[in-house]
Amino acid sequence: MDTIRTQFATELKAVQTVKDVEALKVRYLGKKGLVAEQMKRLKDVSDEERPQYGKKVNDLRLEIEGALEKKLHSLESDELAKRLEAEHIDITLPGRSRFVGAAHPVTHGMEEMLKIFSDLGFSIQVGPEVDTDYYNFEVLNFPPDHPARDMQDTFYIEPGMLLRTHTSTIQARFLEQSVPPVRIVCPGRCFRNETISSRSHVFFHQIEGLCVDVGISMQDLVWTLTEFVQRLFGRDVSVRFRPSYFPFVEPGLELDISCFLCSGKGCALCKKTGWLEILGAGMIHPQVLKNVGIDPEKYTGFAWGMGIERSVMLRSGMKDIRELSENDMRFLKQFRTC
Ligand code: DAH
Repeated sequence: MDTIRTQFATELKAVQTVKDVEALKVRYLGKKGLVAEQMKRLKDVSDEERPQYGKKVNDLRLEIEGALEKKLHSLESDELAKRLEAEHIDITLPGRSRFVGAAHPVTHGMEEMLKIFSDLGFSIQVGPEVDTDYYNFEVLNFPPDHPARDMQDTFYIEPGMLLRTHTSTIQARFLEQSVPPVRIVCPGRCFRNETISSRSHVFFHQIEGLCVDVGISMQDLVWTLTEFVQRLFGRDVSVRFRPSYFPFVEPGLELDISCFLCSGKGCALCKKTGWLEILGAGMIHPQVLKNVGIDPEKYTGFAWGMGIERSVMLRSGMKDIRELSENDMRFLKQFRTC
């Protein structure tokens, strides 16, 4: 029995898992185990030694049982500790935030402007980016070889086909098919063969606007565009109209707002002039109305066109137009609006 005891002690030391404990239990305490074998010898022991022998075997069984139980407990708590360690969740770690997209500043700016015009009763119309020389120039009173064509360096796709240089193309496309009253705004991308710099790019966005009806006058133009820029830039800005030239309007003019950064005193944004140029406009030239089959004796109208990037940049303090098409998320994220 002492041999069994020492053998058990050695084997117990080698035990590493709960399974090992169970195997040991079977080997020592099972029906055919080593302790049971000792018990079987009881009948061969003399009567007077039997009680003592029986007690010894029993003690051995209890001892082994106790040791196995203890081992089992310690293994179980070791395993639990290991599992807890492995499955440890650090609730103090910052959560993984989800990336939520937002509209590009140009898209956002465009939507804001369209919303203002839509509130003023204008509907939205779009047209193709690849268009004909006719809609881009000719119908708008730019005859072939007219020097005003040089104002807009053009990408030609083939003779007579080009990438539109302005969204004014939609004027004639729409008027041809309509009977006034017409009140539309036309957003879209335009292209010009310009040297890319911080101030100009080969593609950019514009909104063209158009209002044609009986009795439309310069007063309507002035009110509509003043209302628009004040809704966009704030009621504090003042507005000035300067005479200008565009072949498709007469008279033609440009609208400036007082610089909202320096309130007109003169700063780097307005180049010390106190004014910021926002858009071109004018009363639609009678020839343009004739070209699209509208009687200029009966109807008059005004039109305007403006760059979206420019307003977006002015309002957000961006310095370089190229940033708006390079899609550097680190840059764009600064201007997220939702
Ligand atoms: N299309 C002109 C441009 O891109 C802007 C413009 C000026 C549009 C006067 C108009 C207008 O409708 O009346 O420079």
